[in-house]
Amino acid sequence: MYSLSNCRIIELPKITDPRGNLTFIEGVRHVPFDIKRVYYLYDVPGGAERGGHGHKALHQLIIAMSGSFDVVLDDGREKHRIHLNRSYYGLYVCPMIWRELDNFSSGSVCMVLASNLYDEADYYREYDQFIQAVPMREGA
Ligand code: TYD
Repeated sequence: MYSLSNCRIIELPKITDPRGNLTFIEGVRHVPFDIKRVYYLYDVPGGAERGGHGHKALHQLIIAMSGSFDVVLDDGREKHRIHLNRSYYGLYVCPMIWRELDNFSSGSVCMVLASNLYDEADYYREYDQFIQAVPMREGA
């Protein structure tokens, strides 16, 4: 059963160099899934919010490639707000997590590595629908 405790910051390899640093990511080795798709958000206007959905089976790694933004993760029981502002940290988000992204700095770029191809059927677009799908947990 997936919950917020499965989500975590992953520190990526970093080759520091006076000419500029280099970070690399290999599927399965650095992220707990095979990477099938990469997409990125950019030119996000001030005050905009992205996300606002959950995924049934998709695993993702979210990286602030430039600038910063916040990711709010919600497993239906608790919520965490995480500020991302380093291109060598990735936020691993497991399936069955509602996420919202906001507080984008000007010029920020949000890159997402995903375990599968885009599939609208994998989304929960309504929070109520997501909550109803969250398995009942012991003590809940
Ligand atoms: P969405 O996942 O809702 O974006 P965000 O979570 O960043 O707010 O996707 C926005 C639109 O882009 C939606 O119409 C679906 C489309 N889309 C694709 O066609 N392919 C993709 O890989 C992604 C992520 C989105």
